[in-house]
Amino acid sequence: MCGIVAHVGSRDCVPILLEGLAQLEYRGYDSAGLAVVNRSGGLRVHKAKTRVAGLGSSLPARFKGGPGIGHTRWATHGEPNDINAHPHVVGPVAVVHNGIIENADELRVKLIAEGAEFISETDSEVLAHLIARAGGYLPRSGGTEGGAEYAADALHENGTAANASTANASAADASTAKASAANGTAGGGSGRNGAQASGKAGGTGKRGSARNGDGTDRALGTDRAPGTDRDPGTDGDLEEAVRQALTSVVGTYGIAVLDARYPDRIVAARNGSPVVLGIGDKEMFVASDVAALVRYTRQVVHLDDGEVATVRADGFHTSTLDARTTTHEPSVIEADLHSYSADGYTHFMRKEIHEQPRTVERALRGRLEERFHTAHLGGLNIDARQARAIQRVKILGCGSAYYAGQVGAQLIEELARIPADAEAASEFRYRNPVVEADTLYIAVSQSGETHDTLAAVRELKRKGGRVIGVVNAVGSAIARECEGGVYLHAGPEISVTSTKTFTATCVVFSLLALHLGRIHDLSPADGARVIAGLHALPGQVSEVLAQEERIADLAKDLTGYHGMFFVGRVRGWPIAREGAQKLKEVSYLHAEAYPASELKHGPLALVGPDLPTVAVVPDDELRDKNISTLGEVKARRGRILAVGHGTLDRRLADDMVEVPKNEPELDPILLSVPLQLLAYHAAVTLGNDVDKPRNLAKSVTVE
Ligand code: G6P
Repeated sequence: MCGIVAHVGSRDCVPILLEGLAQLEYRGYDSAGLAVVNRSGGLRVHKAKTRVAGLGSSLPARFKGGPGIGHTRWATHGEPNDINAHPHVVGPVAVVHNGIIENADELRVKLIAEGAEFISETDSEVLAHLIARAGGYLPRSGGTEGGAEYAADALHENGTAANASTANASAADASTAKASAANGTAGGGSGRNGAQASGKAGGTGKRGSARNGDGTDRALGTDRAPGTDRDPGTDGDLEEAVRQALTSVVGTYGIAVLDARYPDRIVAARNGSPVVLGIGDKEMFVASDVAALVRYTRQVVHLDDGEVATVRADGFHTSTLDARTTTHEPSVIEADLHSYSADGYTHFMRKEIHEQPRTVERALRGRLEERFHTAHLGGLNIDARQARAIQRVKILGCGSAYYAGQVGAQLIEELARIPADAEAASEFRYRNPVVEADTLYIAVSQSGETHDTLAAVRELKRKGGRVIGVVNAVGSAIARECEGGVYLHAGPEISVTSTKTFTATCVVFSLLALHLGRIHDLSPADGARVIAGLHALPGQVSEVLAQEERIADLAKDLTGYHGMFFVGRVRGWPIAREGAQKLKEVSYLHAEAYPASELKHGPLALVGPDLPTVAVVPDDELRDKNISTLGEVKARRGRILAVGHGTLDRRLADDMVEVPKNEPELDPILLSVPLQLLAYHAAVTLGNDVDKPRNLAKSVTVE
């Protein structure tokens, strides 16, 4: 959801910002912009309704310098256009913001009454005004002209103003800017070196790695060590201005702030939207996602909610909103650059679908304990006695994470015989849930940053519930807030629509179900049976992928229809839901999922030659029931694509995709793969932007 990148160091930051934004574009892609302090100490801004590549190619040759901040946007307040694009600028201050300022309207009215002029429709612009004011800048004209190059720096360079309205503001600002910069450096600069140095010194260890050396997991929630020392002062006027501005703000934010009067630093802050600092060699980075940093550094620090950081070329200093110094041990990013490149594939979605044999293997690595026919999950932080006391399991997530949670709930009920269900975290958090002491709550999230899921975790914690995470992004907010949990180790997922993390989540739930099952009543023989099934999975996923060409042909055919039904029963039901979700997300075809048993209770009215049905039909104890459903569709001359096992009579469906048979509990994992390929090829046939589908963002970090 929107991407932030910032750099401070001696080199020109523009190529770094553009490269970082390109890596973050999957988080938001309706407009983009940059602000840099140029060599003469002035602020230059360039932003437009364009993708990052378009922004780069439209930059004037003179657009160079540093420090700088950049942003790629996913619109929430105000349509995507040049003016609403970030950075938002007030005088010497430029701000990029992820999140939502909930009291923006109220603040806007107040600021206008005080003489501020707003030019965008965004909530983010209030931040620029608040920070500029708190930092002593009182503009006579508040803004910039969207799209065109902003030349607030013109007077710093040669005395030529870009336009009359900004000329006065810049003229008024030019002298103060230089004077304050000197004060800022003298007053706030050196005093923070101790903290910066300790931040760097701690960065050599593997504390941030999610696995121990032996391949086992370490606990989620253990990679930071907040300090509580009262900081005697603040890091210069810019940090203080940001701190002061944020006291009047209600909502979520991840921000990076640049002030031309302080050309040695960037100030960042976080509340609800991720901010990560990257530690380089005499240079520092700020980003909303490590994807923007891996090219430059592996050492990172994740800010916590309510933290402010001042970042200079030689280090960083972090503190709370009330100016208490905090300390962080840098963690090491495990992923390499390779994970962030499409590697010869046309789309990340296809690359990630094809990565699944490896991601399934990685999710299993070091976690199977053959001797006791169980799974070992090092980060759970639940001993056998506590596990026995669990009376119920409640799984929470959004979108694909929710559907994977539904697969997980079935696995836990089947293997551990503990009542389990999944619910959309976005609903759970608002319905004043009854939180039970003997229930294990599990938050599922690829990004670990989804606002609704995080809010559900916090609601649970507030009520004393025990919540663990099943998360992909190491060190993310949900991972840190949970008591423990299991990482997916699927590597970065770049395509907006989830594929490899869906299957990895299901695999992790298989392990958890096996672990809980063997503590409850699952027999050693059944444990061994499940383990054999898990070992077989990677090879079987490859077998499904080998059928891509055929599935692509079927997808082409299906794009001729205006929509389709997806049906499945019990184990097949979450797979049908996820299949429909994938198709909707990337092909924009209407797809609706129903439990197969519900078809006759209403939706059958729509079945006919114009509406095909994709039926998930595993060869399990419900096969005959599913065959009846196929009959109901056939009787209405509805076209059927069945996804199932070789034992199904092919005459029951018009088309069939066969997946290898595994253990019945694990079959759903394999059944989901053809549906990913179906959605992908439908989208390609329709000429859609597969990795960046319209109206979607990779992780929704706002309300
Ligand atoms: C967004 C994405 C979905 C994703 C969901 C949960 O809605 O568009 O594809 O499944 O967020 O994301 P998470 O990172 O929490 O798994």
